[in-house]
Amino acid sequence: MAIKVLSDEEMRVQKGFIEKMRSFATGKMYHIFTMGCQLNENESEKLAGMASEMGYSFTDQPETADLVIFNTCCIRENAEDKILGQLGYFKALKRTKTDMVLALCGCMAQEPHMVEKFHKTHGQHLDLIFGTHNLYRFPELLYEAVTTQKKQEDIWEMDGTLAEDIPIKRDSSLKASVTIMYGCNNFCSYCIVPYVRGRERSREPEKILEEIRGLAKDGYKEITLLGQNVNSYGKDLANPMSFAELLKEICKVDGIFRIRFMSPHPKDFSDELIDVIATEEKVTKCIHLPLQSGSTNVLKSMNRKYTKEQYLALVDKMRVKIPNVTFTTDIIVGFPGETEEDFLDTMDVVRRVRYDSAFTFVYSRRVGTVADKMENQIEEEVKKERIGRLIELVNSILEEQNEKFVGTIQKVLVEGRSKTNPEMLTGRIESGKVINFSGGDDLIGKVIDLKITEQRKWYLTGVLA
Ligand code: 5AD
Ligand code: SF4
Repeated sequence: MAIKVLSDEEMRVQKGFIEKMRSFATGKMYHIFTMGCQLNENESEKLAGMASEMGYSFTDQPETADLVIFNTCCIRENAEDKILGQLGYFKALKRTKTDMVLALCGCMAQEPHMVEKFHKTHGQHLDLIFGTHNLYRFPELLYEAVTTQKKQEDIWEMDGTLAEDIPIKRDSSLKASVTIMYGCNNFCSYCIVPYVRGRERSREPEKILEEIRGLAKDGYKEITLLGQNVNSYGKDLANPMSFAELLKEICKVDGIFRIRFMSPHPKDFSDELIDVIATEEKVTKCIHLPLQSGSTNVLKSMNRKYTKEQYLALVDKMRVKIPNVTFTTDIIVGFPGETEEDFLDTMDVVRRVRYDSAFTFVYSRRVGTVADKMENQIEEEVKKERIGRLIELVNSILEEQNEKFVGTIQKVLVEGRSKTNPEMLTGRIESGKVINFSGGDDLIGKVIDLKITEQRKWYLTGVLA
């Protein structure tokens, strides 16, 4: 399918609505609830950018906000309960604060059964519902909602569009996320993402580089490249370009200290990409390599397109080619049909790879996915018991991995004061692990050498080297 990059004219129309909103928004406040992944966080930064240009200012007290946006995620079921609870709370608030505008967007808005549920339970209180493919139209929809007092709903099934140059208000002034592609073509059998985010659409490399050069000019030091499957970047471009080639170009941007990316898919991890990671100093040597399951049988039924052995061989190859490489991962337990033996295969891979950290999930049935229709669903009790064992193993390895850093010297971007202990400065080492240390405010924003002194499970401590 041809990708339609939205024209400057279409984006200008939205800028016009931003202007028109000023008379309504100036002096008012907004709050955004963001659920889910970094991609959603990045999109919330765009919503915040548009709201700010309209004249809204941010409040961290949602009850006092004039505009409340719920940017939703539907990857697992617990998010549904959470959002319905939150909407119920704001519905009650709106009874007294009648001019409060409630907007809902993100992945759940692309699920017809969820939209129906919202209508049934909160229909008259939600002023605005829009989906993932038309986020750029937020100014126009909000303007219509505010001026007509009529509920606006705009959800597109079509996913062939790409919007550039949406205003953005970033959460940090040192670290920035840059979405390089949207959508996913993989259809892992448990995953709802391809249904709510559509097919893969890569941004033009010039647009990505332009954004990153701008960030470097503004003093940003660390960039995280985002996409559902970053290493299939560029296949759909008129002039195809690989993710490895894109990374090389990004490394040439002066001023950027570190480049992270997530998430790659093991099946698309080319030798070319491994070489770029190995040779380019700025590219992180901490690779997020989603495993999902260690059992070849389960992987097959998940439609992951690699075996346990292929995954382990990839890890070994990277260990040989990339000095000091570390790994993090995503794992699902309790996928339909997972036997104790399959689960032990997952534990086996965890023991062998020795992840620095792992996001562990209990399998959650998603309406519309292939796995939801599988008959051999696992009982909740079994899932719970397995995730308990897995977390215990992951945590025991985590401390051992931490221990390896003690005594070493690591380069760290100083991000600011620690939220939990303002006496200390905080940053992250290469592998993404938090490190706290004492020092003056003049160090904030600088890249410094730290000697690691101690590991405290969830963070490390260090001193200036
Ligand atoms: N149930 C549990 N975990 C899931 N993930 C994706 N879909 C599901 C599901 N239905 C996990 C995967 C993915 C991460 C972002 O979320 O591990 O990598
Ligand atoms: Fe979901 Fe698989 Fe695509 Fe990741 S690669 S978004 S898990 S379908």
